[in-house]
Amino acid sequence: MAGIFRDNLLAGKTAYVTGGSSGIGQRMAERLASQGATVMIQGRDQEKLDAAVKLIVDAGGKADGISADVRDYAATEAALAKCQELFGPIDILIAGAAGNFPAPALGMSSNGFKAVMDIDLLGSFNLCRAAHQFLRKPGASVIAISAGQAQAPTAFQSHVCAAKAGVEMLMQCLALEWGKDGIRLNCITPGPTDDTEGMRRLAPSEEHRAKVLRGVPLGRLGNRDELADLALFLSTEAASYITGSIFNCDGGSSIAGRGLTL
Ligand code: COA
Repeated sequence: MAGIFRDNLLAGKTAYVTGGSSGIGQRMAERLASQGATVMIQGRDQEKLDAAVKLIVDAGGKADGISADVRDYAATEAALAKCQELFGPIDILIAGAAGNFPAPALGMSSNGFKAVMDIDLLGSFNLCRAAHQFLRKPGASVIAISAGQAQAPTAFQSHVCAAKAGVEMLMQCLALEWGKDGIRLNCITPGPTDDTEGMRRLAPSEEHRAKVLRGVPLGRLGNRDELADLALFLSTEAASYITGSIFNCDGGSSIAGRGLTL
């Protein structure tokens, strides 16, 4: 849980993280807790939630977990209400729940496409829409975890590209509408990140990983700590004038291949 920030930057704050029981969302939840925030994580699997909460509590943080599917508006709203009841207004909201599998469009049913659209895009809308009433106003910071596919058309990822492009646009639209409430909304767009379910699914072999790395100017995979530190920055006063922005944390992969190769 070590990061580049050392102070108790989020003491007294409440954070709510979907997809917080695994992968990037989990590391962000851990990082916010390590800085003094009380963290509620939402996921689908109670056992995974319990394990993630235990890791935070064992490290001296404050956390709880609640089981709800972001595709279910009523369940998500009830989970958010529970968080507010236990811990007060929500200062930091992270939309981290996501689904992915590699498949060509012709190898995917309508329901397969819909599953990812519903988790990533509708789920982000559900979370933000339901959370608005519980967010600290002014002051809340909302972060959606996007993906490079939002900006780079990618074969076998039509569902994820469409969903994540929608997520980035959704957050910018909400930033326009909710600025008057003092709510900031931004996206963190990871590149290929080590130790994530996404990489395990999309680059399962050494050969796949080597191919992925050829598109990363920094020549290595990112790690979850780097993304967690960016989420922490966006959760603090240091980012108080930043809203509607997309932060690529991707080793430069989003700019690779755009110009002439000399
Ligand atoms: N190729 C093609 N279609 C696939 C597929 C694959 N590899 N995996 C799932 N699908 C299809 C299913 O066949 C189903 O369509 P059908 O009803 O027409 O058969 C549809 O997707 C929904 O699958 P189901 O397993 O019922 O959905 P779910 O809601 O339980 O799971 C997923 C959603 C598919 C996204 C699942 O992979 C998931 O829960 N992922 C969460 C973790 C994750 O993806 N992490 C990485 C984030 S980057």
